[in-house]
Amino acid sequence: MSQASNPPAATRLTIASIARLYADGERIAMLTAYDYPTARILDVAGIPILLVGDSLGQVVLGYDSTVRVTMTEMLHHIKAVVRGTTRALVIADMPFLSYGVTPEASLENAGILMSEGGAGAVKLEGGERSARTIETIVRAGIPVMGHVGLTPQSIHQLGGHRVQGKTQEAGRQLLADALAVQQAGAFATVLELVPEQLAAAITQRLHIPTIGIGAGAGCSGQVQVVTDMLGMSAEFTPRHARHYTELHSIIKAAAEAYRKDVADGAFPGPAEGTRMDPATLEQILRFSPLDRPEMAEVSGGIPLDRDL
Ligand code: KIV
Repeated sequence: MSQASNPPAATRLTIASIARLYADGERIAMLTAYDYPTARILDVAGIPILLVGDSLGQVVLGYDSTVRVTMTEMLHHIKAVVRGTTRALVIADMPFLSYGVTPEASLENAGILMSEGGAGAVKLEGGERSARTIETIVRAGIPVMGHVGLTPQSIHQLGGHRVQGKTQEAGRQLLADALAVQQAGAFATVLELVPEQLAAAITQRLHIPTIGIGAGAGCSGQVQVVTDMLGMSAEFTPRHARHYTELHSIIKAAAEAYRKDVADGAFPGPAEGTRMDPATLEQILRFSPLDRPEMAEVSGGIPLDRDL
């Protein structure tokens, strides 16, 4: 095949591309992704940032919190998302305690998510408390996205999924956290469950993009958990999520129709099978000891494992 017939390879977005979107005043759409086929669809749909969030633990692996997610599990899913994309910037969430214990371990784990996983950046939770960690990782050449407001890995300390920064003291701390993340060198930060006026005020005071989830329309961009956006769960949807489709009922209806077709003998039909030359079939069956018992003596039958 001549080279001219190959379509040009898509260029993968980098943090410089995200900085350009931000500078151009474009609102940035980010989604989580956990698997190859979904990542492919989201990439083709033009979503510029895919986050392999540790929400993986709850929405894909069935854990009760993100605290249970391990480096091995994250890596498994990051690799699948990277394989499914050619254009999106893939960000890897750093799992609980894979950072923040020692700077050396934080850097080593961030490095593994990049070099083994193939991510283009990492994300970690915490404001002032994580600033040193962010600085260490960024200094080594790894782009970091911050995450302040509700930080789900601290759920046992925070006591639940509550809106953060609502009091004078908590609001001031949240602003200080966002500034600390920026100062430490993060290229962007998530603001999760923050009152919308405070999120807008923080966004105005930063010179890096804020990506909101439950933080109102005044952020530089938005992130949603893809299974919420697709309506995968019949049981629970957070208040801040919008269903853009109802995959739960679509998949359920498809599974019910399939089950019925199998039971009725309506699947597979002629279009889903393959037919063979009847003469060849005849030849096969002529020598079959099952169809002609006298052949069993000639051929000695089909050897079974126990006869070998
Ligand atoms: O893990 C995740 O999905 C996240 C988003 C909610 C930002 O951190």
